[in-house]
Amino acid sequence: MIPQAFIQDLVARVDIVELIQRYVPLKKAGANYAACCPFHNEKSPSFTVSPSKQFYHCFGCGAHGTAIGFLMEYAGLGFVDAVEDLAHQFGLEVPNEGPRFDGASHTQQRSLIDLMSSAARFYRDQLKQSPKAIDYLKRRGLTGEITALFGIGYAPDAWQSLEQVFSKYDDPALVEAGLVVTNDTGRRYDRFRDRIMFPIQDQRGNVIAFGGRILDSGEPKYLNSPETPLFEKGRELYGLPQARVGIRETDTVIVVEGYMDVVALAQFGVGNAVATLGTATTPTHVQKLLRQANRLVFCFDGDKAGRKAAHRALEAALPHLADDKNVSFLFLPEEHDPDSFVRERGAEAFQAAAQDATQLGRFLFDTLIEDCDLISAEGRARLIHLAKDYIPKIGAPNLRVQLVRELAQASHVSPEEAAQGLGLAIAKPSRGGSNRFGERKPPPPLPRAAVTPLERKLLRVLLAKPDLSGKLPLSLLSALPDNPERAALIAVVDAGEDGTLIGAPLGAWLEHFRGNPHENAIALALRSLEEGFVDAEQIDQIFQDTLTELELGQTSAEISRLCANPRDLQSEAAKEKLRELFEKRVLLEKKQKLRSGQSV
Ligand code: UTP
Ligand code: MN
Repeated sequence: MIPQAFIQDLVARVDIVELIQRYVPLKKAGANYAACCPFHNEKSPSFTVSPSKQFYHCFGCGAHGTAIGFLMEYAGLGFVDAVEDLAHQFGLEVPNEGPRFDGASHTQQRSLIDLMSSAARFYRDQLKQSPKAIDYLKRRGLTGEITALFGIGYAPDAWQSLEQVFSKYDDPALVEAGLVVTNDTGRRYDRFRDRIMFPIQDQRGNVIAFGGRILDSGEPKYLNSPETPLFEKGRELYGLPQARVGIRETDTVIVVEGYMDVVALAQFGVGNAVATLGTATTPTHVQKLLRQANRLVFCFDGDKAGRKAAHRALEAALPHLADDKNVSFLFLPEEHDPDSFVRERGAEAFQAAAQDATQLGRFLFDTLIEDCDLISAEGRARLIHLAKDYIPKIGAPNLRVQLVRELAQASHVSPEEAAQGLGLAIAKPSRGGSNRFGERKPPPPLPRAAVTPLERKLLRVLLAKPDLSGKLPLSLLSALPDNPERAALIAVVDAGEDGTLIGAPLGAWLEHFRGNPHENAIALALRSLEEGFVDAEQIDQIFQDTLTELELGQTSAEISRLCANPRDLQSEAAKEKLRELFEKRVLLEKKQKLRSGQSV
């Protein structure tokens, strides 16, 4: 697998004009380049290439895409071949799923990886020569086989044992790799001394860091490599290469907290566990894992710290949820961690517990309700208030709908009111009828644009200028009807929040969505972007107008909802609120009138 980061890097470095020029003679036409389309027969040029968007588009036949897409279509190459061909043409080396590319150059990383691998070999050899380290691992119940599978080693009890491996002990690269530390007086010494060494590998199997455990008791129990050009804690997971087969076979990843947990589980036949590295689970972790399996089970200790860690994992998971993915939480009995549990009760009991893990939705509710006294109106209101930080962030549209319903039931309001309380749009109100939560009529559907639905408009705008995604409030998105275009919009905003794509050309964004469920909606939006490449200033304005329109729809819906039940309007607060809404609507309408006649 080629890492996403490389593909983005490649798309960012390659100039699509230069590439296409090698196959098709291009002529400058304004800000873009034009030619007769190589994909269909034509006499006048309708094929354009945009250097700013790093994207080509044919107005005649609709062909469009990135540099990679061009090579695929023009040369009939598969994706991987196209990437390789392109990289080759531009003098870049294609890595397998490997370290990331920012920070250090490829060669620099390569040499750090060599250092790390030499160090790992040294530590493994040292283990064989240290009876006390072998004895420790035996006491912890590890077999020689599993110790070898994970490349576990031992760092000797001396200040500069790495001198035996690296003749140039003062090589700054040793410090950069985190293997050697320099003190104030300039003295250098090994970071890891008298510790059991757990090599941390990237997905390709390169050693990129170490975790070192003290043999007896002492502080810190685990000493980890610092962040280096090879190692970013929030992205990496311990045990990933060893777990690959197990993950594929079970379509499940189990995430635990400790090195020893991963190793013990593997020894007992639970081969699909990985560990975060002494950090909270990050959204990047979740994204990485959900790419490899559809089921993700977080397994935490049953203590308070475990609950807290689970909570962090829950938050990290919300934006990456999808309706075909399943995330659950397994809480072990308080006295256990996965290591002790699997040793005491065996793999089958562990697997059964993992099967039975608490689903994310349930866990979310349990956590929220814990804090609310549902007997009182205040407590029920608080529940909705608390849920507002979570439910709208859920990336899985159908799960979100389910949880809104559940929230409504728990807080004794209608699903519409719950959605409203969360700042979400009302899911498809049934016209005019009463519902089982009360007699009031559901509010009217949001006013829709006469020509293009807002979600389609927004998607086109974002594709014309992806960086705008950072300015699109998700709360407004939830006011749109739930359809593939809105889902694609949410995904674009998510991708933007990830940070890696900020400032990247459209081509990099498109590659990000290749082969993902939103690819279709995005391709359709592009195809209909027939006005071509609108200039940037106009796009900003269209974006603003669309936001205004959305906000106006939301405000009107809120007014209708308040007015639907006059009883609710008796309090001063409600009257005040209504006044505010009217004022807001007038302002928004003024803003809209000032700029009428614009559309995408
Ligand atoms: P635990 O304290 O639960 O350790 O830390 P453990 O994995 O059960 O270790 P054993 O069984 O006592 O050997 C869980 C994880 O938190 C990180 C490590 O990644 C560890 O595996 N940690 C813990 C540190 O990074 N530093 C520490 O000092 C302690
Ligand atoms: Mn433990």
